[in-house]
Amino acid sequence: MKLKTALLSATILAACMFGSASAGGLTVGFSQIGSESGWRAAETTVTKEQAKKRGIDLKFADAQQKQENQIKALRSFIAQGVDAILIAPVVETGWDDVLKEAKEAKIPVILLDRTIKAPDDLYLTAVTSDLVHEGKVAGDFLVKTVGDKKCNVVELQGTTGSSPAIARKKGFEEALAGHDNLKIVRSQTGDFTRTKGKEVMESFLKAENGGKDICALYAHNDDMAVGAIQAIKEAGLKPGKDILVVSIDAVPDIFKAMSEGESNATVELTPNMAGPAFDALDAYLKDKKAPPKWIQTESKLYTPSDDPMKVYEEKKGQGY
Ligand code: AHR
Repeated sequence: MKLKTALLSATILAACMFGSASAGGLTVGFSQIGSESGWRAAETTVTKEQAKKRGIDLKFADAQQKQENQIKALRSFIAQGVDAILIAPVVETGWDDVLKEAKEAKIPVILLDRTIKAPDDLYLTAVTSDLVHEGKVAGDFLVKTVGDKKCNVVELQGTTGSSPAIARKKGFEEALAGHDNLKIVRSQTGDFTRTKGKEVMESFLKAENGGKDICALYAHNDDMAVGAIQAIKEAGLKPGKDILVVSIDAVPDIFKAMSEGESNATVELTPNMAGPAFDALDAYLKDKKAPPKWIQTESKLYTPSDDPMKVYEEKKGQGY
């Protein structure tokens, strides 16, 4: 730890001499959830790019969707004496002990893309979207599109216990409240994956008169929506027309589907969480001024009127 502190001081001193602090020269541990979705893979790519650009030595650990692996990775980062830790926490609860260990070791922890239920003095900041708002944007879109028509909605939830699954469900339900013509008739986890999204959608279609009783699908991410679109087509129905499709992330494949009339809307989640995280870390190391506890990213709604193929091409250069 002494060596770490000395190096850190040297970095700050050097930064002061050159007029601005930089996270360059630091070692940062990154505990990633896994690669369940296109969005997740893009976030990994962007984080590595951002670290490289800033001269940060990034220690990357893929948790394969398991919280226990993330806890192990954090303990290993602490033992190595890294200068900071980034973590995309797979679920909301169960982090207090390991975060206390990081705090005792004076290692700042930054949460990426997901929130946790823990005292907020256990982490430096959280770079996330407003996850409830995302669900609300998706729900408002559906309410507006459906009008007064009776509409049975099926919902593909994200990973059970994860903050986006909990919050996106909440926000969507808030949007539907008071619109009694719209009803969620089935809701199940598809674990944020394309395969599971397809599988669960197949079971929804079977249970709902071959899909004829379903008016809309709300998926907590685009990958599940893409899997479900395939299931809808295989059931002989037209996604985007017979069954409206609304989801979250804005990955390139959903814009392809949108350009083919098979998706009606997506809410964008930037995969660049690391940029604002490293900026906050820079500022923290420079002035020891704590950043706000929440650095919020945008949640823009895209529909077929947004030239989906153009967006598809643009997205391709952004970590996808
Ligand atoms: O936490 C963000 C969510 O996790 C993304 O929306 C989803 O695609 C990912 O797996």
